[in-house]
Amino acid sequence: MGPDLTTVAAAEDRGVDYARGFIAFGTERMPDFGLSDGEIDSLIDFLKYTAASGEYPPRAPILKWNGTVDYAGGAGGAGGAEH
Ligand code: HEM
Repeated sequence: MGPDLTTVAAAEDRGVDYARGFIAFGTERMPDFGLSDGEIDSLIDFLKYTAASGEYPPRAPILKWNGTVDYAGGAGGAGGAEH
């Protein structure tokens, strides 16, 4: 299998054109799937969506006594400061 793609569309050293190249032509290690331009556009839209909504690598969750989670050093998230 290939690398994690969660943020590939937004990563400084990657980006949409970079991803499009892999998807359109494949590499020695990744197959060329013979997709149409429309199918490639849809995949790029999806990768933009995951880049905007997801993060990689995943943060290690700290399980709290009440079953919710905290993230070390992480601000944000409802109830993050509660103990
Ligand atoms: C729709 C499905 C897929 C999409 C959108 C996709 C997209 C991509 C992208 C954007 C990269 C570059 C990632 C980077 O450099 O950070 C990549 C790399 C790679 N993918 Fe895929 N991929 C798909 C399916 C697959 C499948 C099925 C395989 C394995 C059979 C595969 C194997 C690889 C490998 C081995 C690399 C690294 C290639 C290299 O550096 O030469 N991919 N893929």
